[in-house]
Amino acid sequence: MGIPDSVAPDSGRDPITRRGVLGATAAGAAAVALGGTLPETASAAPPAARTPAAGGDLRAAAGVPWKHAVGDPRGSEIATKAGRDKEGRFGVMFKDAEPFTPPDDLLHSLAVVMSEPAGAPLDNPDIPAGFTFLGQFIDHDMTLDRTPLSAQQTDPLALTNFDTPSFDLGSLYGRGPAADPEIYEPGGSGRLRVVRNANGVDDLPRRTDGSAIIGDGRNDENLIVSQLHLLFAKFHNRCLATGLATNLAEAQQLTRWHFQWVIVHDFLPHVAGPATMARFLGGGGAPPSFRREFYKPRNPNRPMMPIEYSVAAYRFGHSMIRPGYLLNARTTPPAAAPIFGAEGSDLRGSRPLPARLEIDWQHFFAVPGKPATPRNQARLIDAKLSAPLFNLPPTVVSDAVTSLAERNLLRGKRLGLPAGQDVASRMGVPPLTNVELDLPYPAHPGWQGKAPLWFYLLRESELEHGGRRLGPVGGRIVTEVILGILDADRGSYLHAKPAFSPKPPIAPAPGEFHMGDLVAFASQ
Ligand code: HEM
Repeated sequence: MGIPDSVAPDSGRDPITRRGVLGATAAGAAAVALGGTLPETASAAPPAARTPAAGGDLRAAAGVPWKHAVGDPRGSEIATKAGRDKEGRFGVMFKDAEPFTPPDDLLHSLAVVMSEPAGAPLDNPDIPAGFTFLGQFIDHDMTLDRTPLSAQQTDPLALTNFDTPSFDLGSLYGRGPAADPEIYEPGGSGRLRVVRNANGVDDLPRRTDGSAIIGDGRNDENLIVSQLHLLFAKFHNRCLATGLATNLAEAQQLTRWHFQWVIVHDFLPHVAGPATMARFLGGGGAPPSFRREFYKPRNPNRPMMPIEYSVAAYRFGHSMIRPGYLLNARTTPPAAAPIFGAEGSDLRGSRPLPARLEIDWQHFFAVPGKPATPRNQARLIDAKLSAPLFNLPPTVVSDAVTSLAERNLLRGKRLGLPAGQDVASRMGVPPLTNVELDLPYPAHPGWQGKAPLWFYLLRESELEHGGRRLGPVGGRIVTEVILGILDADRGSYLHAKPAFSPKPPIAPAPGEFHMGDLVAFASQ
């Protein structure tokens, strides 16, 4: 049984193909617009010169409810507005590396060639697709900013008033039952609200407009991440139902620590590889000790989020998104849907879960006792994004730039990211050249012989590991920052109880616990 590559009739391949064609016919115009000489042998032509609308300020999104990081998250402008040496909620990891500022038109032309070619083998055999959305869920947990609005307004650069990044499942628990009672069952049981919706399936509690009542609305952005959120709520409730936890605080700690365990022992080994994990968390001792290399926040008790991580390295997940997913095989043919396509039949969120799109998790993770096929695999971590991500719906973005690749590249420039090669050399990794990276028009003077960090890290993964996991620069940034934040958090198991390890009945055996086991325990 095949996994949908794109799901007819609304796979969304068309828009990007049309863009590609338009781009090819406009190569000359773009060359003039860029003021540079394009090589005669260029294999991919840049697109047409930008229209003012498409080149508009990404900050147009400001003032609308915060979606999955649309607009600059508060404090992320620190490098350009406060200084590269400053640290608050965000900071700069490689402070002495210059910001990289290629012309917007070059970034636009790069974004255009980042679309997946039709028919190529693009699946990652090593990473089941559930890890894509676990990655998105982890991002939301880490970046949730619960700072009261008044404090946010007096400190727009988040230099002093901010919620420190942590992996404490704030998205699940909100501000607790006193401040966010609608997330919890009434009566003080400590259980999170899970409802049976009008379509007859378990769902998150929702408002009349369809939006979920949860600690972080971003986990309602698509129907996969919202069902993952629901899974964690069920895990929490099951800790109480089994008596393994007798109150809210105990259930929270069990759920948080198993979530953190999965990040360390399942997510990071999948995306960065076991060797990179062992580089930072090992040392042969028991419990293992964490080693720091380049992520050294000035205030160890309030670790910052480096822009290199947030605006480039951790956005690797965008290249793992498939155009379409198989949700369950209860029907013939199995239920499948495009991530974004025709409204109503796609996977966009903020609406009650339709019964047809309820997930059976063995199609996303290896679940004990369940068949291994059919399973959605993530796309390779490479410099190609699937077609629907070039035409993001209004539930995801609110301005004219609907290409996720272009947003990431422009955002990197606006927020003062260094070039990929400058980061690699500071980490002692021999930098890849623009020709090796296959950057369009690699010798164009606008590139100054360098490449944008986000693109660099994706190509690095492709060149070093065939896209199966992150390369040395990307893998180390992601691993060190995540482990560094966990290590600094007094409530995390890594800090509070490094010897913690999952046990039966939650785990199948002591110290053995993966996402599939979390699914199995939560779904009993
Ligand atoms: C369907 C899935 C996803 C969609 C539609 C999506 C879309 C977006 C959009 C529109 C932005 C803002 C871009 C900008 O204007 O700068 C963004 C930011 C970001 N995305 Fe995603 N994304 C998805 C999944 C993921 C995944 C799987 C990861 C990582 C594993 C990820 C990591 C990030 C990060 C780190 C940011 C920067 C801000 C933040 O920390 O939240 N995203 N995403």
